[in-house]
Amino acid sequence: MHIDLRSDTVTKPTAGMRRAIASAEVGDDYLDGDPTTRRLEDQVAHLLGKERALFFPSGTMANQCAIAVLSEPGTEIYADQFAHIVEREMAGAAALSGVQIRTVRSEGPMMDATGLSRAFRPFDPYLPRATLVCLENTHNSAGGMVTPVAGLRAMHDVARERRCRVHLDGARLWNASVASGSLPAEFSEWCDTVMVSFSKGLGAPAGAILAGDDAVIHRANEVRKRLGGVMRQSGILASAALTLVAEMPEAPQLVIDRALQLIVERRRQASRSD
Ligand SMILES: Cc1ncc(COP(=O)(O)O)c(C=O)c1O
Repeated sequence: MHIDLRSDTVTKPTAGMRRAIASAEVGDDYLDGDPTTRRLEDQVAHLLGKERALFFPSGTMANQCAIAVLSEPGTEIYADQFAHIVEREMAGAAALSGVQIRTVRSEGPMMDATGLSRAFRPFDPYLPRATLVCLENTHNSAGGMVTPVAGLRAMHDVARERRCRVHLDGARLWNASVASGSLPAEFSEWCDTVMVSFSKGLGAPAGAILAGDDAVIHRANEVRKRLGGVMRQSGILASAALTLVAEMPEAPQLVIDRALQLIVERRRQASRSD
């Protein structure tokens, strides 16, 4: 058997997904709405405890729309030094939203409240103003490590003290949820917007959701259109993601993920006691 470990994005649609795709009810999502996409957006908004959600062709576009909506040109946004938006989104925050990213180094393997707090500049009319803090959970470059809800909340509190809004890149929030035993909504409670993905280790061919309050998602919809991200019969893609939402949190892929994590934890414990 050939096992491809290059990335968790190489996972392919399951038989159930392919059946859902074949029979998906579709419409024109630009003209009068695609019913399957609408169902996915409603269900994921509910799952994340947010007013509204919007389907995107990719997580990158959803992240960039969140930055555009929650920041202001000529200001600074804060993110972990190895965050996806820093390393892998082609300097999109600068190119598309006119912001500079102030990267945060923490003592541990990824951004925490202490590191974030230290990174902030003093309030000063002649220093760049901060508008947004971008979090990532699980953290891809830190090997998929999880920030528990308490850690996320602590970073939210720092952000609010500094009058910043909070975006969560939750491309793998499902994994953070299964690993920590906290519900996805318990994480998203501390964020203005949350991006979640269905194509990382879960088999869906493409697609991500951005969730937030009604006003923020209304503006994200405008930016999505500007970037050419409004799709037509998007139910073809949304139907694959919907099969996952129906299974959450018992999706077999996530159960395997938890099992692998347990193996790693046990090995760590064993090597400590040697
Ligand atoms: C943490 C994180 N955020 C965002 C993305 C972007 O997702 P997409 O490939 O759908 O643009 C990825 C992709 O791997 C990722 O790992």
